[in-house]
Amino acid sequence: NIPPSITMLENLQVLNLSSNGLKGEIPSSIGDLISLKNLSLAFNSFSGDVPDSLSAIPGLLHLDLSSNQLNGTIPTFISEMRNLKHLNLANNLLHGVVPFNSSFIDKLEVLKVGGNGNLCYNRSVLSSKFIMKLEIAPCDKFGRPVSPPPSKRSNSADDGSDGDYDYDDGDGGGGGGSVRHMKEHHHGPNKVVLGVAIALSSIVFLVVFLILCSKCCR
Ligand SMILES: *[C@@H]1O[C@H](CO)[C@@H](O)[C@H](O)[C@H]1NC(C)=O
Ligand SMILES: *[C@@H]1O[C@H](CO)[C@@H](O)[C@H](O)[C@H]1NC(C)=O
Ligand SMILES: *[C@@H]1O[C@H](CO)[C@@H](O)[C@H](O)[C@H]1NC(C)=O
Ligand SMILES: *[C@@H]1O[C@H](CO)[C@@H](O)[C@H](O)[C@H]1NC(C)=O
Ligand SMILES: *[C@@H]1O[C@H](CO)[C@@H](O)[C@H](O)[C@H]1NC(C)=O
Repeated sequence: NIPPSITMLENLQVLNLSSNGLKGEIPSSIGDLISLKNLSLAFNSFSGDVPDSLSAIPGLLHLDLSSNQLNGTIPTFISEMRNLKHLNLANNLLHGVVPFNSSFIDKLEVLKVGGNGNLCYNRSVLSSKFIMKLEIAPCDKFGRPVSPPPSKRSNSADDGSDGDYDYDDGDGGGGGGSVRHMKEHHHGPNKVVLGVAIALSSIVFLVVFLILCSKCCR
């Protein structure tokens, strides 16, 4: 956990505790670090809410809480933090409607909220210009995402795993069975590629052989 004594560092401007094994809730006393400009708690196992006390840090420029297990909604006070330039809340368990309007998003240099499966944006608040940036789905009238959020990871996945997804859709079921099928499916294209490669190299060999033959015969 973050030790309570950390709040004695009232002149601290940069605190980067990213990529440690830290867990528990982010203590609300973090708001006592009133000189902070950059705060990163990314790539830990923090859970619970984004603490309200962060709103007490007037000069916060850079806030990175990505890749934790933070839950709850994104607090509205964040959109009132005037100096914020870089905000990363990606890859947590946050849910509900993103409380940001276009003018707030426009002001930020970096905004990441993707990888929170139950987070969504309000179509009547955000113009389409900002939607791609967010990498989350639009909300229904209950404030829940209407469709699975666009996922960067699955787009950038290699052809092999795309094939697995297709096959899985067709299979439509059984746990162990589908794993076995996925394995077979994975080997399928490799065999085809191997076959084509052997066929092509045989043809090339044959052509070279025939050319050499015809030269010899002359
Ligand atoms: C924190 O440290 C990591 C690793 O050195 C670096 O990638 C990241 O940009 C830093 N973040 C801040 C806010 O200084
Ligand atoms: C949010 O995280 C806290 C702290 O781990 C946990 O007690 C709480 O049950 C979680 N809430 C939800 C809705 O998952
Ligand atoms: C603090 O954050 C700002 C804005 O994102 C960035 O330009 C700067 O490099 C960061 N400083 C440190 C020491 O990480
Ligand atoms: C956007 O949100 C900020 C902070 O919540 C607010 O001050 C501002 O008036 C809003 N702008 C628009 C165009 O709604
Ligand atoms: C989206 O914004 C509109 C207009 O501000 C509001 O009436 C509506 O309740 C919001 N929807 C959700 C799901 O928050």
